[in-house]
Amino acid sequence: MSAHIAVVGSINADMFIRMPVLPQRGETVAGGQPHWFPGGKGANQAVAAARLGAHVSMHGAIGDDEPGQMAMANLSDAGVDLSFVKRASVPTSIALVLVEESGENQIVIAQGANDEVEVDSAAVSEANAVVMQNEIPVAAMLEAAAACQGTLIVNAAPVRELPSELLSRIDVLIVNEHEFEAYGRPTRGVVVVTAGSGEVVAYQDGQIAARATPPVVEAIDTVGAGDTFVGAFAVGITSGSSLQETLTRAVHAASLSTLAHGAQSGMPTKEQVDDFIAQTN
Ligand code: RIB
Repeated sequence: MSAHIAVVGSINADMFIRMPVLPQRGETVAGGQPHWFPGGKGANQAVAAARLGAHVSMHGAIGDDEPGQMAMANLSDAGVDLSFVKRASVPTSIALVLVEESGENQIVIAQGANDEVEVDSAAVSEANAVVMQNEIPVAAMLEAAAACQGTLIVNAAPVRELPSELLSRIDVLIVNEHEFEAYGRPTRGVVVVTAGSGEVVAYQDGQIAARATPPVVEAIDTVGAGDTFVGAFAVGITSGSSLQETLTRAVHAASLSTLAHGAQSGMPTKEQVDDFIAQTN
């Protein structure tokens, strides 16, 4: 039976606007047509893990609105259990995603329902792994961490201060290079440091334990690649793979995810990752 992964996190509707160059402070630039896509680091990671074959439950919140329905439809199509998604009294959170021709992006989040996430401790305690990010209130993260009986994986993005009681409970911390520095290069447990298209390094108690370089692809859209990595990592670790095998599969999944527009559209299945690994090695 596949592992049960509980994702306690954000659900957003992403509005993408493409433009030649991102605006400077105080500047207005002309962009292309706006496009809506399902997003949010929590929902993205849930979809990524479910596409790869895990049993995933989503613990989050949406508003009673169209953006919320769009986000739920994609989660549902991926087979994610939505029993623990709350209908909040405020609108679904919206991410405004600005992407320039070079692929560089800027994201602004209008916090809505994500601020009302509630944790069903009994349900969370049944999962083999709990996956969280920094787009929901710290109080909800603390509750989920306390309930977690399995592996606690935290993608501490975007950077914000986290209480020491949470940091000391984390089994696997996943951060990018900037977040790694911001959290003071933690030296306990497993810490995985991603670097966009560069090499991913996993540390175990401060020592390098595994590394993997994402295969080069002609990326169309890198938004959500980090979330694909986190979802794939959770699937690997909960299915008993080694840290090295888990990293290798996760970087391949993340590269594949950049071949379509929007955070979730390009997230691969297990078979697609298997084929891609066979092609690139
Ligand atoms: O990691 C990408 C995600 O960050 C986007 O989908 C957006 O919603 C923001 O949360």
